[in-house]
Amino acid sequence: MKDIITLGIESSCDETSVAVVKNGREVLSNVINSQIKIHEKFGGVVPEIASRNHVEAISSVTKQALEEAKIEYKDIDHIACTYGPGLVGALLVGVSYAKALSYALNIPLTPTNHIEGHIAANYITHKKLEPPFLCVIISGGHTHLVHIKDYTHFEILGKTRDDAIGEAFDKVARVIGLGYPGGPKVDKLAKEGSANIELPKTHMDGLDFSFSGIKTAIINLHHKNPEINKADLCASFEKYVTDILLTNTLKAAQTLGTKKIALAGGVSANSYIRQSFVNLEKEGYQIYYPEPILCTDNAAMIASAGYYRYISGDTKSDLTLNAIPNLKIG
Ligand code: KG4
Ligand code: ZN
Repeated sequence: MKDIITLGIESSCDETSVAVVKNGREVLSNVINSQIKIHEKFGGVVPEIASRNHVEAISSVTKQALEEAKIEYKDIDHIACTYGPGLVGALLVGVSYAKALSYALNIPLTPTNHIEGHIAANYITHKKLEPPFLCVIISGGHTHLVHIKDYTHFEILGKTRDDAIGEAFDKVARVIGLGYPGGPKVDKLAKEGSANIELPKTHMDGLDFSFSGIKTAIINLHHKNPEINKADLCASFEKYVTDILLTNTLKAAQTLGTKKIALAGGVSANSYIRQSFVNLEKEGYQIYYPEPILCTDNAAMIASAGYYRYISGDTKSDLTLNAIPNLKIG
């Protein structure tokens, strides 16, 4: 069979990324231009600044991705571009660029869901992983338990009713003065503490999640007692949210009758969460998670998800594609 070369484009938040991926799983290049340093001083992503920086970066990031992959434009079979969910202005930069390239090169454009991209990151790291499996998508914008029925069919089993788990990590970090983005900083500091702070029960029944209660509880604890040990606070928060993730994931796995569980999204880079899931292997579960660089936003995962859409015939080359900021999965 002929190799299929996908050019992936990702610009949904604060990373401008372009990747070249062969047959959906072999990464030839994955260039990520992060704007973290620019947004750091504002304590979070400023949408207008993100869009402007995507505009400035996208051409050179694409050029670099082609150079690193040692290919030319004529070698690309199709373009996979994130069209949602995300910040509308940021998404529009990638979508417009992808449409222009698709038109100029006369090659198909495959609209790609960012969340499907996070799931597909696992296909790159685990070459033999195939659906069906249960995926725990934990990122700055999403917290979903999804049944991956096949490469393009998904069923949401549970989701957050309020904050995404990454948002909770970032807000906790911000209030205790760790800075932005908070997730990796909480991860690091928690290693020096112990989970000895009692936290109120905010867990819900069923498979949905809620993280705003625990976030508020941590913030209140810190405000009431600014001397409270920050490392213990981080460790207690991390253990608390991990227990919730594990409870719901195991419930969903038992309902589906599956032992195959994949983690995806930026928060799946968290070392405590990973280890806690890996511990389930002793009970016969198979646990998958992407390598760290593929956990957070990148275009290789978009190329992989787009490849599976492309081979299933789900492309759109009529140039009417628009950004959909609240695009859902499933
Ligand atoms: O997947 P991602 O790059 O963007 C979205 O699609 O939302 O996820 C970013 C989120 C941020 O909230 C960041 O703090 C969190 O992932 N994150 C982590 C870690 N690394 C990134 N959270 C906890 N522990 C980490 N090591
Ligand atoms: Zn993401």
